[in-house]
Amino acid sequence: MLAPLILRGVNFKSGIVQGPLAGYSCAPFRRLVWQHSQPAFCYTEMLPAKQICIEHGAFNRYTSRHPDEVKLCYQLSGCDPKALAEATAIVAAMGADCIDLNVGCPKAKIRKKRHGSALLAYPELLYECLSAMRSATQLPLLAKIRIDGGSNERHNLLVAQAVMAAGVDALVIHGRHWREDYSVPCSWGQVALFKERCKGIPLILNGGISGPKSLHALLHKTGCAHAMVARGSMGRPDWIHYLSGPLEGELGSLSLKQSVRWLKQHLEDLSQLESCETVRLQARSIVPYYAKQLSVDSAHHLVRIIRGSSDFKNLMLSLKKIL
Ligand SMILES: Cc1cc2nc3c(=O)[nH]c(=O)nc-3n(C[C@H](O)[C@H](O)[C@H](O)COP(=O)(O)O)c2cc1C
Repeated sequence: MLAPLILRGVNFKSGIVQGPLAGYSCAPFRRLVWQHSQPAFCYTEMLPAKQICIEHGAFNRYTSRHPDEVKLCYQLSGCDPKALAEATAIVAAMGADCIDLNVGCPKAKIRKKRHGSALLAYPELLYECLSAMRSATQLPLLAKIRIDGGSNERHNLLVAQAVMAAGVDALVIHGRHWREDYSVPCSWGQVALFKERCKGIPLILNGGISGPKSLHALLHKTGCAHAMVARGSMGRPDWIHYLSGPLEGELGSLSLKQSVRWLKQHLEDLSQLESCETVRLQARSIVPYYAKQLSVDSAHHLVRIIRGSSDFKNLMLSLKKIL
């Protein structure tokens, strides 16, 4: 069952990890998660290794970290071992608590560069990438993969071998094939192969976790002890707290005021990292996550405020009036 993650002697004190969400899991989101949950660690958005090398550790929206954040895993993407090693050293110097290679992104623009899930088909290159990262840091090193799932591809075994040979400290398994979208049921039967081949490192299972019962059923079925959740915390930073609680626990409903408090902090923090106008526009794609927690009327009211505001200051004043 759920057990604290211990990687390279570091006890991360929880068995649940907050996963990466490109376009969303930057410091303002993660700060909310830490204020309302106690994950083992949170992930940055995916960071292209070459970009990290070019910017050489510059703090920006993607790399910055709020003082309230406890443990942070920087996720790199790429397929050039040299650039990945250099980027690993850079994010380690920036204060990373652990570092991960993205081996699961299904987006065409990522795959065509042989990054993300494309690496699954090149286990030797995957091994070289992870080995290069391994030799660049003593911090816990992870890989986040997708599995064969319902496809004819048979990469699981070679990927498991590559990961182990490179010396990673934990493997995150998203239980779907890269062609499968986020609603297809996960193929958890395939975890058995990884359990057999990746002895001695924790497997962190990801996908389809809808509450404490489904989390515990998954851990029971697979015999694993650790999980990652990603989308559940969007608009609901207390999601991991809820998952970590009793099996029969209920996720309380949210008042408009509570959602607005969270949304307001999220946008205020973002405005420290991006221009107010950029944040005003981004608020349109962020608000649905907070609105979906509310009654239909409150949700419409909130969305109308965000869409109707012509400048950031007015937007924040309108949110303040609700509190
Ligand atoms: C909008 C969005 C962005 C994502 N960005 C990343 C990413 O940058 N790196 C990554 O490894 N996975 C990424 N994922 C996948 C999630 O981390 C996670 O594997 C997936 O959502 C399944 O977990 P969940 O059901 O708990 O959300 C993303 C998923 C979504 C929906």
